[in-house]
Amino acid sequence: MKNFIYKNPTKILFGKAMIAKLSNEIPSDARILLVYGGGSIKTNGIYNQVMDLLSAYYFEEFSGVKANHEYELLLKAVELIKEKQLNYILAVGGGSVIDACKFIAAAAKYKGDNPWDMMSIRYVVKEALAFSTIVTLPATGSEMNSGAVISYRAIKEKRSFKSELLFPQASVLDPTVVSSLPVRQIVNGIVDAFNHVFEQYMTEREGTILQDYFAESILHTLKAIGKDIIKDPSNYDLASDFMWSCTMALNGLIAQGVPTDWGIHAIGHELTALFQIDHARTLAIIGPRYYEHNFEFKKQKLAQYAERVWNVQEGDLEYKAKQAIVMTENFYHSLGISTKLSDYTSEYEGTAELIAERFTKRGWLGLGEKQNVSPDDVKEIILKSY
Ligand code: NZQ
Ligand code: ZN
Repeated sequence: MKNFIYKNPTKILFGKAMIAKLSNEIPSDARILLVYGGGSIKTNGIYNQVMDLLSAYYFEEFSGVKANHEYELLLKAVELIKEKQLNYILAVGGGSVIDACKFIAAAAKYKGDNPWDMMSIRYVVKEALAFSTIVTLPATGSEMNSGAVISYRAIKEKRSFKSELLFPQASVLDPTVVSSLPVRQIVNGIVDAFNHVFEQYMTEREGTILQDYFAESILHTLKAIGKDIIKDPSNYDLASDFMWSCTMALNGLIAQGVPTDWGIHAIGHELTALFQIDHARTLAIIGPRYYEHNFEFKKQKLAQYAERVWNVQEGDLEYKAKQAIVMTENFYHSLGISTKLSDYTSEYEGTAELIAERFTKRGWLGLGEKQNVSPDDVKEIILKSY
């Protein structure tokens, strides 16, 4: 196990009717920017609960944050914060809204000319507004982590950034929100969380027994509840396991002391930037081909996953490792998610070359835990995903 320093400061308020309890977490003199999306919170009762909470505060509303939102739109929120001298943000939504909130929190304090310059792993956020979240879509884990992914459609870019200052102070996880989710978003959540575990688990390492079991327990849970939660999203127990699994998949716990990969996400973000494909679906397109391409150094771990999660006991290591990829891809298909790029866009020709070239230009010469997945490898992986 590698050395690590771990702190996750986000307070979790889990369960029914917990939105009201946020009043204990948000300072009474906070001047709040309420950020939400396209309106789902107005039809499922969440908005009314938020209004009850905010009745004791000064607040302004900023709505219309979309999946793969417009960077320019977020700058308007920053202007509103400055104009009304707001000092706290409450994000109510899925990963897109929470990530937007993190960006706004940092941009409101940014001293440079163009806040887009923050979108680099090398940039260090120096100051950010405090914020809390009410998550309405289990998937990204953004409610308990310090990262955000922001889209800039005009230049077809999607970039991430991260900072210790971007952990939510508190997050409400009320599983009843799952009942209003369309199937498309539920399956996206399952596949996104599955891949978050993969990125932190499917790496070559020794002596990380506990982290492996943590990771496998999340995969087991998602696999066990996947089909049932689609059929019965109002089932509170299933929704609770779904929601907590998604948060646990990316709150930093399973990444401690182990090498992590994140190559599938890096390539997936490019597909979203180019074609607006749902984030989780880009992972389903790239993931299986990524593991086939990196089979030699991932096969030990793939075989362990096949044995422990899919109960593949027959055959040698190579067979089990190949089954791991087949089983995973079948699982995505069983959720109604295609793993072929051409099922999402007819304009896929040239995508592999374009993304490889983008990575080269950005100096991203090696993805993965060994940083040995070159732009040429990326090209081959994408070509096989057509
Ligand atoms: O906008 P509204 O009307 O709220 O509708 C949303 C949106 O259309 C809807 N929705 C959310 N909660 C709902 C609901 N509809 C009915 N009932 C509810 N309770 O769902 C749609 C999708 O929402 P979105 O926030 O885009 O989905 P998701 O949570 O999957 O977030 C995806 C974004 O998060 C980023 C992705 O790249 C993508 O931009 N990620 C963020 C990460 C992080 N910060 O750690 C990690 C992830 O890997 C990911 O990259
Ligand atoms: Zn993801």
